[in-house]
Amino acid sequence: MKRLAIFVSGNGSNMENILRRAKAGEIPAEVALVVSDNPQAYALKRAEKYDVECLVVDRRRFASPEAFEAEIARHLERKKIDYTLLAGFMRILSPAFVQAHRRKILNIHPALLPKFPGTHALRDAWEAKEKVTGVTVHFVDEGVDTGPIILQREVPVEKKDTLESLEKKIHAVEYEIYPEAINLVLEGKVRL
Ligand code: GRF
Repeated sequence: MKRLAIFVSGNGSNMENILRRAKAGEIPAEVALVVSDNPQAYALKRAEKYDVECLVVDRRRFASPEAFEAEIARHLERKKIDYTLLAGFMRILSPAFVQAHRRKILNIHPALLPKFPGTHALRDAWEAKEKVTGVTVHFVDEGVDTGPIILQREVPVEKKDTLESLEKKIHAVEYEIYPEAINLVLEGKVRL
């Protein structure tokens, strides 16, 4: 069985969805590690309900980005992690880290990449008055939200939508396509 790590910084609803589905056998892998760079992340509370090791790796406690990433890499090795899933992880991983884990790190992004990369994708798509936005799952490369796309799904922006209702629809799609994309990767069925 492949072993997964999930990296979080905040709310952790995607993380919990993945933990729940792995436990239910809908994702045929073991989530062996949760890493948060934020000691206050609500994700850590959510993870308590699951039998998974949680680790806080606080950037502020490390002298450099390299030392911070070396600590994370050490734990990925210790837990024999096959794939890392970014789920609302707010740090950019260095080119060296990405190169050492090429095609082993996935990310979920709340827009139809390559449109609207960056931290405020959902709001940016809303303010640009897009008629259709969506969700992308991709491998992480050296750029910001630029890696090879595994799966995308559209979400229509309707007249009656508000930013809040759009956010709800985006999340609902995230909870479907992140597991689907993970399973494609696990089954070796990704076509780039
Ligand atoms: C999601 O919208 C995801 O696409 C983006 O960050 C958000 C994380 O939400 N990368 P949550 O922490 O999983 O609730």
